[in-house]
Amino acid sequence: MNTKPAQNPEFAIEFRDVSYEIRDARNEKIDLARERSIVSHISLAISHSETLVLLGRSGSGKTTLLKLINRMLAPSQGQVLVEGRATTDCDAIRLRRGIGYVIQEAGLFPHFTVAQNIALVPSLEKWDHARTVARVEELLRLVGLNPAEFSSRKPRELSGGQRQRVGVARALAADPPILLMDEPFGALDPVTRAELQREFSALASRLKKTIVFVTHDIREALLLASRIALMEAGRLVAVAPPQDFLTHAHPEVQAFTNCLDTPTGGSQ
Ligand SMILES: Nc1ncnc2c1ncn2[C@@H]1O[C@H](COP(=O)(O)OP(=O)(O)OP(=O)(O)O)[C@@H](O)[C@H]1O
Ligand SMILES: [Mg+2]
Repeated sequence: MNTKPAQNPEFAIEFRDVSYEIRDARNEKIDLARERSIVSHISLAISHSETLVLLGRSGSGKTTLLKLINRMLAPSQGQVLVEGRATTDCDAIRLRRGIGYVIQEAGLFPHFTVAQNIALVPSLEKWDHARTVARVEELLRLVGLNPAEFSSRKPRELSGGQRQRVGVARALAADPPILLMDEPFGALDPVTRAELQREFSALASRLKKTIVFVTHDIREALLLASRIALMEAGRLVAVAPPQDFLTHAHPEVQAFTNCLDTPTGGSQ
């Protein structure tokens, strides 16, 4: 098996027949009939600078796929390649510093200020003070928060939407080429959510990063995706650009597109 990084990898991220299953204490595979295989036989290639949206019901395996990309989980079978290199051949810490990760519910450190939260990776990378301060200010402005007002606040002194903006700023801090975003706009009121979606969409086309964005909201997927990948019970059942997704024949796609007729837009 060739595990050397490719010089010019064709894809930013590639899943090659990846399965992930929970093993018991003796590290033996648990009987599949008991449905402990969390994701099965995933093959998916994600191009540089695309926004791939992972869509699926709760429990379908979306967060698991994100964790397989930054090696918080290692595949039980198959390979995940990042920039042409198998994640299991990479130093996990280095790999993660090159991948911004916005986790469900923002996941800020409560005892750190906004500025310290955003500066997390730059300080691990030992950036000098002036460069770090300038970067934090730049990012706060980018996500629409006034640095003078917000830098020294603690997460508990922010609204949910502001916390999520800080989570996005933190993920962007060291300018990683890849961003993983796990329902970053969940639990927001519909107006703020629509506002952040619009801002994010403009930001994504400006920043030219490879983005894997998780949601269970079909409207959000259609708005933001260059392609939508639909998960159902640990399997990838459809991958298509938004316009083709709407007419896809798979029943799970139709279950989602039917939600477009309802006022809530399929948030489950
Ligand atoms: N450590 C674990 N042990 C056992 N089962 C797990 C573990 N982690 C996840 N699962 C199960 O794997 C499945 C997929 O979980 P995952 O978190 O990837 O779903 P998801 O699509 O992100 O869901 P949601 O939309 O609710 O966040 C779920 O059924 C979950 O209960
Ligand atoms: Mg999840």
